[in-house]
Amino acid sequence: MCGIVGVIGRAAAAPLLLDALRRLEYRGYDSAGIATLVPDGIDRRRAEGKLGNLAAVLERTPLNGTTGIGHTRWATHGAPTERNAHPHATSRVAVVHNGIIENHAELRAELESEGALFETETDTETFVRLLDKHLAGGMAPVAAFAATLKRVHGAFAIAAVFAGHPRLLLGARQGAPLAVGFGEGEMFLGSDALALAPLTRRIAYLEEGDWVVITEEGANFFDAADAPVQRAVVQTAVSGAAVGKGNYRHFMEKELHEHPAVLGDTLRQYLDPGTLEVRLPRLPFDPAKVPRLTLTACGSAFLAAHVGRYWIEKLARIPCDADVASELRYRDPPLPEGGAAILVSQSGETADTMAALKLLKEGGQKVLSIVNVPESTMARSSDAALLTVAGPEVGVASTKAFTAQLAVLACLAVGFGRARKQISQVDEGRLTQALLSVPSFAAEILDRDAEIRALAAEVAKARDVLFLGRGSLFPIALEGALKLKEISYIHAEGYAAGEMKHGPIALIDSAVPVIALCPSGPLFEKTCSNLQEAAARGGRVMAFTDAQGAPALRRFAEHVIELPTVGAFSAPILHAIPVQLLAYHVAVLKGTDVDQPRNLAKSVTVE
Ligand code: F6R
Repeated sequence: MCGIVGVIGRAAAAPLLLDALRRLEYRGYDSAGIATLVPDGIDRRRAEGKLGNLAAVLERTPLNGTTGIGHTRWATHGAPTERNAHPHATSRVAVVHNGIIENHAELRAELESEGALFETETDTETFVRLLDKHLAGGMAPVAAFAATLKRVHGAFAIAAVFAGHPRLLLGARQGAPLAVGFGEGEMFLGSDALALAPLTRRIAYLEEGDWVVITEEGANFFDAADAPVQRAVVQTAVSGAAVGKGNYRHFMEKELHEHPAVLGDTLRQYLDPGTLEVRLPRLPFDPAKVPRLTLTACGSAFLAAHVGRYWIEKLARIPCDADVASELRYRDPPLPEGGAAILVSQSGETADTMAALKLLKEGGQKVLSIVNVPESTMARSSDAALLTVAGPEVGVASTKAFTAQLAVLACLAVGFGRARKQISQVDEGRLTQALLSVPSFAAEILDRDAEIRALAAEVAKARDVLFLGRGSLFPIALEGALKLKEISYIHAEGYAAGEMKHGPIALIDSAVPVIALCPSGPLFEKTCSNLQEAAARGGRVMAFTDAQGAPALRRFAEHVIELPTVGAFSAPILHAIPVQLLAYHVAVLKGTDVDQPRNLAKSVTVE
């Protein structure tokens, strides 16, 4: 989940690399570095912390050279210090690496027994030292690189440049994405198309196990068996121009305010506003016949899948399993014949979800993925992909991509319900109508910003916070807690409201805000009773509800925020927005780094 980039340029490489790293910083921001090729070998600059620190170092001591590599790090092996920052280099070679070299300990022991002196604690240095050994033994860079790749196991993307070979850049992909960009007399390499977007739109993706030899004339691709292969050059739709904060203070704030547009764009892909019908593309399985669905993902994307399970079971009566991908991949679940899976991912690169995809395919399941990045590995490896039209999401905490995932899952649930004749055409029209109202309700909810900010001032004082919801709002309670933890560093737990009395009620006292998702509807009375149980024990209930639910809640709740009356079906999508907004305002009040919270990275491409 680090970001890597490389360039064989016509002008100075360092400014281009730094700019590309800015677009990759969402992948990690513990430390950063750049190495370039200069007449007397390799020169590099590295800095601990955010990219701004590296920029300051480069300002003081600029780097020459038109060929180079860069890296922004999310530490796996070794503390995020300057010494452990990439590129790692010897006098002969410099390397940047995203991922993990799993057999690094064994390789390190072998190399040390031969006299190699390691400078860092990183797994990456084993690759560098091994490559250096081959170069020192007289191998040419391409042969040495290929030989080194044969010895390393794990999931990674790697780029290397070599002293004395000023127009050569080598890259390899094994389990982590890597793209080659074709410019005019310039060539690029990067973790994703976003990094390369302002440099070129002409991109070729390395397939699993591929490696590539890049010169200023072009790129030659090889597969895992070292056979030359062709990889198609595509025109990427990703635009670097779209990535800016506009007038907002943070990317997260901007992305929160994009909800109405994103939900509208996403729903328009899958709903026909004229006929009020769901319009699904061809699926890799027949929803009328599929015996069981496995829904899997990580983090917030998993919580979207969790809501999807509630919807699909209710509307289509398809038995569903929903499991986090990091568990599913080792759980060895019995997979039904003719079964199918739905994977959810913003990035389309998450390592655990990718591993689950492999397992599910090997288990004979048809895989449908819901992704935000059309060119991602997940989109390309699934039997079919449905896109969320959320645009680039830069804030590490997912906001608009999460609700867009919910929008797609809601359309699927309605479509499946029709296919299985569990809902009538009239029901379909009613549910579609509810979904079509979501973007304008989202705008109304964003208008409650000042009220939510006032609530945030209370929540910001707390050490622990409980989020409660029932039914399809239970995963949204989990999402509220996850978001608050992630960006404000306040301890928060999400619970199914009915579970509170089985344990968490012991936590309730006057210092613990209990944030309830409690719109009117079939589960209102039950949730209300659970909240009264909390209030009776001194708990400070803060409820999100609607005009119908508000009077009953006002009798005992400390704060009641009235949202539009949206109906039970679309409530999860619309309740996600205020809990995200709440977390945002709490984080701002606490002065945390909202867009790049500590210890996190946006795209988790390690296990
Ligand atoms: C939380 C968040 C993460 C991601 C998770 C999966 O705000 O953003 O929990 O949802 O890392 O990432 P993707 O969706 O890229 O697979």
